[in-house]
Amino acid sequence: MKNKNATFIKIKNTFFLSATILIAFSAVAMAQEAVSLQNTDCIKCHKTEPATVERNGGLHKTAVGCLDCHTEHPPLGTEAIPQCSMCHSGEPHYELENCLSCHSDPHQPLALQLDDNITTACLTCHPEQGKELQDHPSKHTEVACTFCHTEHGEIPDCSVCHEPHTQGQTTKDCLGCHPVHQPLVIHYSNETPRSYCTPCHEDIGELMNKTTTKHKTFTCAFCHRGVHPVVPQCETCHGKPHSAAQHKAMPNCLDCHLDAHNLAK
Ligand code: HEC
Ligand code: HEC
Ligand code: HEC
Ligand code: HEC
Ligand code: HEC
Ligand code: HEC
Ligand code: HEC
Ligand code: HEC
Ligand code: HEC
Ligand code: HEC
Ligand code: HEC
Ligand code: HEC
Repeated sequence: MKNKNATFIKIKNTFFLSATILIAFSAVAMAQEAVSLQNTDCIKCHKTEPATVERNGGLHKTAVGCLDCHTEHPPLGTEAIPQCSMCHSGEPHYELENCLSCHSDPHQPLALQLDDNITTACLTCHPEQGKELQDHPSKHTEVACTFCHTEHGEIPDCSVCHEPHTQGQTTKDCLGCHPVHQPLVIHYSNETPRSYCTPCHEDIGELMNKTTTKHKTFTCAFCHRGVHPVVPQCETCHGKPHSAAQHKAMPNCLDCHLDAHNLAK
């Protein structure tokens, strides 16, 4: 019983409030015949939108005003809510569905709401990254752009999702080998430290720590240049240092020198 009464009072109040607003609005509407509604009038009855635009409106504050979008006011007109396409057209991005799903508030158009499975919309402005991911299939191709870029323009650290191969590697180091949109195209500079290779090639690391020849001081990448995994020829650096007769008789350098990582002389 008590509840019913409360509801009744609420309905009554709402009715009363609406009636007041309508009367007030009719006054404005009538006044409009002489003086039309100005951008500065809106704030008299609408508090939220003008405050949002003022705070965070961006180009919707500076390049347009309320009335450029809301060209007609109820109950006078029916076109109170504008379509984005009134002003934005002619680019692939403007062909997307449901603009407001990301631009959740037109009064602060860059306050974006992005969920974690967006890719197609990103490609309207960043086709190259999409192409890299498609041309070089990897596990990163299988996740959405916003799985990694949770905010627009934000760059994640690899460590959010991965352990490094060895302690102390930063995202910059990872990127030195793995271009993130094609992580299986692994390439690196000649200066890459040995400790970046040896976590996976431990035995060779140990061999090279022990060896006493001039190869001892080289980085792995100095010989295994450029792309993983590449195996060099001795001749690339040394040519054919011995007599032609010897090379003809024994063409395989390692028959005598045994191991590139631990030469025998
Ligand atoms: C005298 C008070 C008053 C002023 C001034 C006023 N409005 Fe309104 N506005 C209202 C009321 C009341 C409603 C709700 C009417 C309805 O739902 O039909 C409303 C509704 C709206 C709506 C929503 C329409 C919809 O379909 O949901 C928009 C948009 C709007 N106003 C924009 C503006 C803009 C822009 C201005 C300034 C140019 C403005 N109003 C000035 C009172 C006012
Ligand atoms: C760039 C275009 C644009 C501008 C500029 C703009 N609005 Fe809006 N406004 C919209 C759109 C689109 C909606 C509908 C939003 C939705 O459906 O969520 C809307 C909704 C509204 C509503 C209805 C809100 C509701 O919850 O139903 C009001 C009131 C309003 N705007 C007032 C204003 C006022 C006041 C200004 C100026 C300070 C303004 N708008 C500037 C595009 C604009
Ligand atoms: C009355 C015209 C008009 C309408 C309607 C309109 N815009 Fe705009 N918008 C502009 C203008 C003008 C600019 C600034 C120049 C440009 O980027 O084209 C702009 C800029 C923007 C920006 C960039 C803002 C910034 O600060 O950099 C976004 C995002 C945007 N609009 C989204 C929307 C969305 C989403 C809608 C529909 C809900 C919409 N606009 C409706 C006129 C409009
Ligand atoms: C899936 C999310 C998403 C959807 C849907 C979306 N946008 Fe965007 N929009 C973005 C992102 C992200 C940006 C880049 C924001 C930045 O540069 O800070 C952007 C930027 C913009 C800009 C400013 C840059 C420019 O091109 O001038 C405008 C205008 C815009 N969008 C309008 C629209 C319109 C109109 C629609 C609907 C046809 C729409 N957007 C649909 C995500 C979206
Ligand atoms: C309407 C066009 C537009 C859309 C849509 C868009 N972007 Fe952007 N994005 C830009 C612009 C413009 C920049 C700034 C470019 C610059 O600073 O060189 C940018 C910058 C970025 C950056 C930072 C680049 C850097 O060098 O720091 C990332 C990351 C990014 N966008 C990812 C995305 C993702 C992910 C999406 C999809 C959710 C997306 N963008 C959607 C236009 C867009
Ligand atoms: C938001 C999470 C996320 C971020 C950030 C991220 N990755 Fe990944 N990455 C994944 C997932 C998920 C996989 C597939 C499962 C796995 O191997 O753990 C993957 C797989 C990989 C693979 C193996 C690819 C394959 O197809 O086998 C490499 C290499 C890789 N990531 C490198 C990187 C590097 C380098 C960075 C930083 C520049 C990075 N990732 C940032 C989520 C992420
Ligand atoms: C696995 C996580 C991950 C995924 C998935 C991912 N990115 Fe990135 N993205 C990054 C990282 C990390 C960087 C920084 C790369 C760098 O500095 O070299 C980056 C850089 C960027 C940049 C800046 C320019 C550049 O190429 O360095 C843009 C734009 C961008 N991403 C857009 C996208 C788009 C669009 C998609 C989806 C088609 C996407 N990204 C998917 C992690 C990711
Ligand atoms: C010196 C080059 C190099 C650096 C630096 C490097 N990686 Fe790798 N990474 C590789 C190679 C080579 C593979 C193995 C590829 C294969 O299996 O064929 C690999 C494989 C991966 C894989 C696939 C899963 C696995 O462990 O085999 C992930 C994930 C990965 N790296 C992430 C990272 C991250 C994160 C960083 C930075 C902390 C990083 N990498 C730094 C060369 C490097
Ligand atoms: C994350 C582990 C990982 C890292 C780091 C790594 N490798 Fe490898 N490497 C592998 C795996 C796994 C294979 C064998 C599969 C293949 O061929 O991709 C391999 C194969 C190789 C081969 C070819 C072997 C053959 O028989 O053809 C060479 C040479 C090699 N790696 C050199 C390097 C060098 C040099 C570095 C450092 C710049 C390095 N690797 C870093 C995992 C790694
Ligand atoms: C990327 C270039 C490169 C490759 C590949 C390479 N070496 Fe060398 N090697 C060198 C350099 C540089 C030296 C040192 C020359 C000097 O200081 O006089 C050297 C030195 C040597 C020496 C002399 C060692 C000493 O301690 O005096 C021998 C023997 C040798 N290499 C054999 C080989 C053999 C066999 C292979 C193939 C399995 C090979 N090298 C592959 C660059 C290379
Ligand atoms: C002086 C040049 C040189 C250096 C430095 C070097 N390698 Fe090699 N590596 C070679 C050559 C030449 C071969 C091919 C040997 C053959 O034909 O059997 C080879 C073969 C390999 C192989 C494949 C065959 C095998 O032995 O398993 C791997 C893996 C490898 N190297 C990893 C490494 C790593 C890791 C480092 C650094 C710790 C390193 N290499 C340093 C020249 C070098
Ligand atoms: C029949 C065995 C044998 C073969 C095969 C062989 N070497 Fe040698 N190599 C030697 C011996 C022994 C020495 C040491 C000679 C000396 O110190 O004067 C040597 C020395 C070298 C040196 C050091 C030269 C210097 O001046 O310090 C290089 C470099 C070298 N070999 C490269 C090669 C290459 C490259 C191949 C294959 C194309 C090769 N060797 C094939 C036995 C061989």
